[in-house]
Amino acid sequence: MMDDTADARRHAPATARNRAAIGAVLTARRAGWPVLPSTGRRLLLEVASGTGEHAAHLAPSLSDLDWLPTEPDPAGLASIEAWRRFVGTPPNLLGAQPLDLAAPAPAALPAAVSALFTANLTHIAPWEITRALFTLAGRLLPAGGELLIYGPFVQPGRPTAASNHAFDQQLRRQNPDWGLRSVDRLDRAATAAGLAPVDLVDMPANNMILVYRPAARG
Ligand SMILES: C[S@@+](CC[C@H](N)C(=O)[O-])C[C@H]1O[C@@H](n2cnc3c(N)ncnc32)[C@H](O)[C@@H]1O
Repeated sequence: MMDDTADARRHAPATARNRAAIGAVLTARRAGWPVLPSTGRRLLLEVASGTGEHAAHLAPSLSDLDWLPTEPDPAGLASIEAWRRFVGTPPNLLGAQPLDLAAPAPAALPAAVSALFTANLTHIAPWEITRALFTLAGRLLPAGGELLIYGPFVQPGRPTAASNHAFDQQLRRQNPDWGLRSVDRLDRAATAAGLAPVDLVDMPANNMILVYRPAARG
């Protein structure tokens, strides 16, 4: 669900409801993320930034890290840029980069990032995209870096909320390759990419943030 404004800014109403809770998790965890030797700062890469509202509203309150939004959709990239200007071009909110996880060779990205964050991607894209997300995180995250995945998930042994069940059915009718993913399946894909699940944070409205870190080697 998305509305357009008079300029290129797009508006996804859910971002206004979930951004404070997401911001609180990022704020609480960021001190543990590695500082990059290249800049002496932390860098968060956002995958599938969509409208750019999470970046525009959260980056200014996380001024001790750099936030790099990415998105494959050109209209999304324009929206992210318009939101960046709308909030006064905060110095730590970098210009959005095109990134399509389905592309064989993802676009030019930093060699390393302190954290990767994505919201509402894994259920609205084919499973291969989630696998590609873990592969990218395995490549870019140094020890102590984190991949944070926000969204609705199915957790074995825990009843799925009726609203999430209905959402899952609706997504699968829209596209058989979409649908809510199970935490178990994500954890297995993470392990295959050299990451380990380290936390699962319950979020409002039956959402979660799943947190992964590079597995200890040796
Ligand atoms: C439901 S929107 C979520 C946007 C935003 N993160 C939010 O929470 O409002 C899903 C996003 O996934 C992006 N997406 C879909 N396929 C993708 C891919 N192959 N690589 C990267 N992003 C993709 C879409 O362009 C869209 O921005």
